[in-house]
Amino acid sequence: MEKYKDRPIGVFDSGQGGLTVLSRLVDLLPHENFVFYGDSGNAPYGVRTKEEVYQLSKRVVEHLINDHQVKAIMIACNTATSAAAVRLRAEYELPIIGIEPAAKPAVLENPDQEVVVMATPLTLRESKFNNLLQKYDKDHQVVKVPAPKLVELIEQGQTKSPELYSYLHQVLDPYAGKASAVVLGCTHFPFAKQAILDVLGHQTRVYDGAIGAANEVKHQLAKRDQLTERTEAGRIIFENSAPGASALSEELYQLFRSEN
Ligand code: DGL
Repeated sequence: MEKYKDRPIGVFDSGQGGLTVLSRLVDLLPHENFVFYGDSGNAPYGVRTKEEVYQLSKRVVEHLINDHQVKAIMIACNTATSAAAVRLRAEYELPIIGIEPAAKPAVLENPDQEVVVMATPLTLRESKFNNLLQKYDKDHQVVKVPAPKLVELIEQGQTKSPELYSYLHQVLDPYAGKASAVVLGCTHFPFAKQAILDVLGHQTRVYDGAIGAANEVKHQLAKRDQLTERTEAGRIIFENSAPGASALSEELYQLFRSEN
């Protein structure tokens, strides 16, 4: 029988974005097995209600636990974290780790400068994010930029297309050459990092929460003595609720690893 320690780690997102977090997890925990579940059939989450996102997230969590016997779950989605993490943690015993926009380091490391936070409309209006701002954004440096269409373009596999550039110009031009930092507060957005910097200017510092979240997964498993002791490379299973989209997951994952 498979040892508990050798069970996979479940990673999920509303779609392909969570692959950017998966990549960090694989760097940090190369011997672990992972199941990546993209809910592209129900994406985007960021324009839904909090209750809908909770229900969708719960369905994925049940699937990862019942069909894959995962030992921990990374909610690789800022939107699902803010809408559902607290409730899910109360309902399940296994470690459930979330991700939030890295606004704290961005504000603290860029005093008196403009900080652009790009995220989904739901993340930006939820109390989790606004409590964070209240605590750290004392000087009101943060500008919130909801960018729901960027999620849709990346779901189609677009990371550098003319349509993507044109949308980025539409939402980011007012901050071009001025923003000191940009927070990628949606896990889809690191796929478009180069394009975002092309529009904002390459002097802009980029913050994303994936490394912190990956460290937290390792910490939670180490604390419970549940890290695998295997020494061979782990494997990844890609699953998706939209027909054909798991092949795009594999492609985007390889693309992201080759560029980062
Ligand atoms: N990738 C997700 C996030 O980090 C959300 C994208 C969506 O709107 O579905 O917020």
